[in-house]
Amino acid sequence: MTAFIQIKNLHISFGDNQIIEDFNLSINPGEIYSIIGPSGCGKSTFLKTICGIIKPEQGEILIRNEKQQTFTALDPRNNSIGYIPQHYGLLDWLKVKDNISIGEKIKGTSNPNRDEIIRILGIEDLLDRFPKSLSGGQRQRVALARAWILKPVLLLMDEPFSALDTFTAETSKKLFLNLWKKHKITTFFVTHNVQEAVEMGKYIIILSERPARIVEIIQNPLFEKGSGRTEDDFYILAKEVRKKLQKAWEVT
Ligand SMILES: Nc1ncnc2c1ncn2[C@@H]1O[C@H](COP(=O)(O)OP(=O)(O)O)[C@@H](O)[C@H]1O
Ligand SMILES: [Mg+2]
Repeated sequence: MTAFIQIKNLHISFGDNQIIEDFNLSINPGEIYSIIGPSGCGKSTFLKTICGIIKPEQGEILIRNEKQQTFTALDPRNNSIGYIPQHYGLLDWLKVKDNISIGEKIKGTSNPNRDEIIRILGIEDLLDRFPKSLSGGQRQRVALARAWILKPVLLLMDEPFSALDTFTAETSKKLFLNLWKKHKITTFFVTHNVQEAVEMGKYIIILSERPARIVEIIQNPLFEKGSGRTEDDFYILAKEVRKKLQKAWEVT
């Protein structure tokens, strides 16, 4: 079986500055991959390359065996990539209801699960508001609704919870996982927070310092356990991942 997404021999640099070095990766459909690495190692650059904003210097990205260049954020064949940038990228001059349906309007599609998505994310009462009047957590949920309503084949999230206070981040993570369990969109979840990486990812991809290399991919033993997981389980796994990260960052 060919992988859902294949990344082959990917190199990215800005001028003389090598950012990503020789990424090779096969991604299964319907899984969440946490990507963890230090600030400045190239995580955002990687996501921007996956969704076609940045052209790689070398290597290729295949999505369902097609070259990435054939995909755009609003692919009319329903091959959209949902991208939630670090600061959510909402359009300040549009109300929430127009922000979340802009992709559908451009594509000329409509998602029958739209109302359910709005309900699960708890943004029913925000639809007539403008993004500037929302809290960080609310904005984050609106950005998620916008990406999700497009029914992307792949969802890219760049540190979606890092600007939120702990309580709001916890709530947002739960809402995201509730939504994800219903539709299981293949997701890349970028974070610099080890705890978050182990809470969210079925696979945890550990990156080195710049130029970023893939140091290890850990299959998360806690992911399928659901409610059987305890805080201690996460703590122990996070400690293990932290050790691997420290080791990787010492040797680079
Ligand atoms: N458009 C760009 N032009 C030049 N350098 C860039 C550009 N975007 C990012 N960089 C540099 O690439 C490196 C990786 O950035 P980034 O991918 O944002 O890291 P991360 O998301 O892991 O914190 C940084 O040194 C950053 O300054
Ligand atoms: Mg970043």
